[in-house]
Amino acid sequence: MNFDFTEEQIMIQQTAREFAQTEIAPSSIERDKNAEFPTEIVKKLGELGFMGMMVSPEYDGAGMDTVSYVLAMIEISKVDASVGVIMSVNNSLVCSGLQKYGSDHIKETFLKPLARGEKLGAFALSEPEAGSDATQQRTTAHKDGDKWVINGIKNWITNGKSADYYIVMAQTDKEKKHKGITAFVVEKGTPGFDHGVKEDKLGIRSSDTCSLTFENVKVPEENVIWEVGKGFNFAMNILNGGRYGIASQAVGIAEASLETALKYSQERKAFGTEIFNHQAIQFKLAEMATKVDAAKLLTLRAAYMRDAGQKYVKEAAMAKLYTSKVAMECADEAIQIHGGYGYVREYLVERYLRDEKITEIYEGTSEIQKIIIAREL
Ligand code: CAA
Repeated sequence: MNFDFTEEQIMIQQTAREFAQTEIAPSSIERDKNAEFPTEIVKKLGELGFMGMMVSPEYDGAGMDTVSYVLAMIEISKVDASVGVIMSVNNSLVCSGLQKYGSDHIKETFLKPLARGEKLGAFALSEPEAGSDATQQRTTAHKDGDKWVINGIKNWITNGKSADYYIVMAQTDKEKKHKGITAFVVEKGTPGFDHGVKEDKLGIRSSDTCSLTFENVKVPEENVIWEVGKGFNFAMNILNGGRYGIASQAVGIAEASLETALKYSQERKAFGTEIFNHQAIQFKLAEMATKVDAAKLLTLRAAYMRDAGQKYVKEAAMAKLYTSKVAMECADEAIQIHGGYGYVREYLVERYLRDEKITEIYEGTSEIQKIIIAREL
């Protein structure tokens, strides 16, 4: 067993760390406060090759491995989990999905600009009445000549307002249930396609989350991903991959909680000494550090298995389940170590807790991860 990273992986990790510190950190508190989308930061991430990290150079991607992607995601999310999710959706759900299942036309037209970071993607599966039970799609698409006509509503869509290209799942044959669901690429600006207002969220406030509405939205036949009727299998396969992205985001938040709490404990004095010298604080930090390491190892294992061409469904679900729990525990303990200071914006740790919560919900709740793991057992 080899726990060493390659030179290239270390270089990518360092690049992500420096970028996060210099370009993302300075505006993170303000963007969180104002729920402001990081447009310029996303553009620069694209220039670095971080928006299409695992896409082959043939399709204008950076051609990096999954381990590098996880390392970069951790560094970015450690500084700003909102930027982390924008990057994760574009990389693991949208680009990976189009690279694996898109036709030549789709790859040429949509994947290339997405991988270059010139365009942004969104993944639209959830609906007002189809969240965890994703087979219950009410959005429909019917054929009219050489076009598909989409009608319906999607909910909780990350990058919902800012995206250019949307992967949309719709029911094309109700009789066939999940075998009658099809995935399409829908372009922003297509007549009848609109987004709702940005949700006013607890955390990851700098990313935008919206509903989408489709009113007789006409999409050409060549925008069908994979095949008619394969949309549900497509979404399930792609979400397996998305889950190590969200696990990386959670690891980033957990590491940030640990490092911020450790630093504070070495500065803050109580009862005549730095609070780090009190065993109560040491025990908390030791527990946090152990859990962060375990969470990171689970996530890297899932990434390593993907790179090795192995099946990683169970491992990705385990990583997401565990890392999101650890991130919650670490953010909570970081606030406790900070005492009253942990409860105000200036000290960052309250944001870690707010940002963390969603990692237990999106791309499959913790309860859904347990179902996936149990089925794989
Ligand atoms: N990987 C691959 N295929 C899978 C799969 C998996 N993890 N889970 C199910 N499938 C396949 C099955 O093999 C089956 O395929 P066939 O019919 O071809 O054999 C098909 O899907 C249906 O499976 P089930 O009968 O088991 O379906 P189910 O309804 O009992 O359960 C579920 C499926 C796992 C609970 C699924 O509905 C699920 O994953 N729900 C969670 C949805 C989710 O993650 N939503 C996140 C939204 S996206 C998001 O959050 C992005 C964002 O913006 C950040």
